[in-house]
Amino acid sequence: MLLRKFKDVLQAAKAQQKPMIIVGCRLVLPPELEREITVLEFALPGKEQLGDVLDGIVESAALPPVTGDHREHVIDAARGLTTVEAENAFALSVAESKSITAAVVAREKAQTVKKNGLLELVETNETLESIGGLDVLKTWLLKRRHAFGSRAREYGLPLPKGLLILGISGTGKSLTAKATAKVFGVPLLKLDAGRIFAGLVGQSEANLRSVIQTAEAIAPCALWIDEFDKSFAGSKSSGSTDGGTSARVFGSFISWMQEKTAPVFVVATANDVSQLPPELLRKGRWDDLFFVDLPNEAERQAIWKIVIERNHRDPHEFDLIQLARITDGLTGSEIEQAFVDALYCAFDEETEPTDLTIAGVLNDLVPLSKLMAEQITGMRNWAKGRARCATAPVVERKSRKLA
Ligand SMILES: Nc1ncnc2c1ncn2[C@@H]1O[C@H](COP(=O)(O)OP(=O)(O)OP(=O)(O)O)[C@@H](O)[C@H]1O
Ligand SMILES: [Mg+2]
Repeated sequence: MLLRKFKDVLQAAKAQQKPMIIVGCRLVLPPELEREITVLEFALPGKEQLGDVLDGIVESAALPPVTGDHREHVIDAARGLTTVEAENAFALSVAESKSITAAVVAREKAQTVKKNGLLELVETNETLESIGGLDVLKTWLLKRRHAFGSRAREYGLPLPKGLLILGISGTGKSLTAKATAKVFGVPLLKLDAGRIFAGLVGQSEANLRSVIQTAEAIAPCALWIDEFDKSFAGSKSSGSTDGGTSARVFGSFISWMQEKTAPVFVVATANDVSQLPPELLRKGRWDDLFFVDLPNEAERQAIWKIVIERNHRDPHEFDLIQLARITDGLTGSEIEQAFVDALYCAFDEETEPTDLTIAGVLNDLVPLSKLMAEQITGMRNWAKGRARCATAPVVERKSRKLA
């Protein structure tokens, strides 16, 4: 009914050469109107606009002007907010501390970003040192650590697109994604991709646009998509399950990734490669595809050390070489779980954990790699020639026999 009226008015307006302008914060167009309407998207405010908002609040609160580095930090903290949201964040900072601090604005932004349920600004202290092994992947990241800087642009480096990390569960993929943000020295935005697919027609596309807008406004940033395979699972079916929405949204996402000019580094992690549409894995989509396998002996030793330290114990108190040897087939996550279990046992006996306590725990542990042997072999075979190994192959050192 409304649609009919609208079409009539549109016709009349056309005849009189009068433009119709519709404003709104969400774009959900009925298919009947899609072809009739030109969509103009308003970007989120840039640095200059945010600066004007800041000056307005400073003036009305009769505070001294915010200048220099302080100004840069405050404006950086507000990027990704709308004008009204930025105004509120600045005003709140004034109310709380009689000044405008980047920390308060950043905190408010984290909450605002979280409100729509799609993105989350993740605070993390994970660095490459928190990861045991994965040397090839770490070197790859370190080589690109200045890739978003102005020197890289002057040099003529293309912007990095993103990284897809595939592999066995519990091997440190999410951990690496978190550390990536620290390597680049940028904020980490986590996307709950499953939530993009909302019930209403057209809503999913609008959600994706809103995610891209926020990420580009906050940029430079890292955009982390965890469990990528599960989020876009429907897209492979090309519409047989959801009227093609996932496939369409997924297509828009891919083309944004290819064409984006804002420094947003996408880091996606996934387990089940077979769930991913093949066009996603084509060369050139990502800067690189990495496969993370079960840790080798040297990696397990490094993981034991990290896990023990993380749990506030001294690694020197344990035989790391032996622990690495007896945990063949365990993932980093299982090693961590084993140590935590050993802590519980020792706590119950009012002592400190020892190698023996850990050995006891390991006796009862059935590693995932045993339960999922077939899937793991499948994944490894798939990765051969398609993805780069996150770990360098171990070259066995053979001692030369004397004749
Ligand atoms: N290589 C590693 N070095 C240090 N800790 C590790 C490593 N791998 C796993 N861990 C420990 O296991 C936990 C779980 O790892 P993480 O969440 O990164 O696994 P994942 O590969 O993302 O697994 P999933 O595929 O199930 O999401 C980490 O928080 C960390 O404590
Ligand atoms: Mg994970």
